[in-house]
Amino acid sequence: MASTETRSKKTKKSAKKKAAKKSSARSGLRSAGSITAPAAAKKKTAKKSPASASRPAQWLTAFPKDFLWGTATCATQIDGGDLHSDWAKFSQTPGRIADGKDCLVACDHWNRFEDDYKLMKSLSFNAYRLGVDWSRMEPRPGEMDHAALNHFRGMLDSLRKKSIRPLLTLNHFTLPQWWLERGGWTKESNLENFLNFVSYIVENVGDLVSEYTTINEPNVYAMFSYMDGLWPPAKKGLSGYFQSMKVLRNMAIAQGRMYDIIHETHALKGFARPYVGVAKHVRIFDPARPDNRLDKDRAAEAEYRFNYMWTDSIHDGRLQGSLGKNEKFHDGPCWDFVGLNYYSRDRIRFRASAIAHLFISQEEVKDAPTNDLGWEIYPEGLYRLLHQFHDRYRLPIRITENGIADASDNRREEFLMAHLQQIARALNEGISVEGYYYWSFMDNFEWAEGYGPRFGLVEIDYETQARKVRKSAQSLKKMIAQARKSSR
Ligand code: FCB
Repeated sequence: MASTETRSKKTKKSAKKKAAKKSSARSGLRSAGSITAPAAAKKKTAKKSPASASRPAQWLTAFPKDFLWGTATCATQIDGGDLHSDWAKFSQTPGRIADGKDCLVACDHWNRFEDDYKLMKSLSFNAYRLGVDWSRMEPRPGEMDHAALNHFRGMLDSLRKKSIRPLLTLNHFTLPQWWLERGGWTKESNLENFLNFVSYIVENVGDLVSEYTTINEPNVYAMFSYMDGLWPPAKKGLSGYFQSMKVLRNMAIAQGRMYDIIHETHALKGFARPYVGVAKHVRIFDPARPDNRLDKDRAAEAEYRFNYMWTDSIHDGRLQGSLGKNEKFHDGPCWDFVGLNYYSRDRIRFRASAIAHLFISQEEVKDAPTNDLGWEIYPEGLYRLLHQFHDRYRLPIRITENGIADASDNRREEFLMAHLQQIARALNEGISVEGYYYWSFMDNFEWAEGYGPRFGLVEIDYETQARKVRKSAQSLKKMIAQARKSSR
């Protein structure tokens, strides 16, 4: 992780150490391993780029004409200027962020959205997943910031004028600090505050947006904020574990309520019929030793708990697994589409000492290509997950996030191509995949990792806020053009 901070060498060293510790602390979810791909693995995946070939590659014909080619971002990670969020406070607390920086300015996108959207348009995207921060709209309980709302409407209007279809995320980890201090997601009685904000936003922007991802990655939030102590409110231990289950339970209940609020508000106000999904972080969990019974059993447990326990609940409208005793909280499914955020695979090993983690431990990646954060690059996983989610829920699917931290930009084009090929495979088999939102449009504040990881198609110089389109973004633009030209 590159740090441009002018701090003493000693502080830098200890920050690096902490960062390494943090990413391995995230190993239950995100692989910690080598920074670069082993040479052999790199060789295996090197292919000729179809983007540079003159004739469209055959696989690109699988994408339908109306396919949504998009990118994804999150308000806290790019906007800057929101002083009332839990992340504003947390990121200013010494020792919390790997590079010692906060999210108060980020990419200054709030002030530069017009230029950023022009760039987005120039790269041929017709869809964009963006977020709105509750803390920005309601900085103090009951006090709505109408100027901020108008500004946000301006952003949506700019997208509309450019024919870029917005997919709006209503909660992407960040909370108002005042709500967190009331217990945030751990208390069911707190949901009323959140649902008021949801009603307010939908009533006020529903004429400009009709597609929503309600909550981003419930499991990731519950894990990092309440089990691993890495994100605000930094809880861990046994009490953190029980709180994390309450968080997931309350998020499921909120999902049911949000689903109804959005549909009812759109109908009442005469807005377009809405389309509501979640953005669910999903992973492949394979046994570290393929024939070991205990590894297989723990991998299956990890898969159920991480990939399906929450989505089964919102699909059936009943609280399942550790979320409840099958209590009904909604009449039938409370999502119209499945949103999948896919990054990587975990290889699971049974470990007798991992009692607090249900004997589940994750093997370090040694024999596969990885991104700059050490996460395994495993494109076929996307195909496997598309099948699994299609078979389980029979709903249309969007890839609401997929991307690579690659500061050199040497692996991004190949990453994109390999993952899009897996989507093409699924499309050819009749699975309804409606869109692909690359994470991320631009480099950004990667939570506790700070600004080191570079996921963007557009590079940000944080000293000057200059934007520079990466080579891989141009390659993706060519792939999109070829897909559009050749689609059925
Ligand atoms: C996802 C998050 C997103 C970003 C990417 C890299 O889990 O939703 O905000 O951090 O990972």
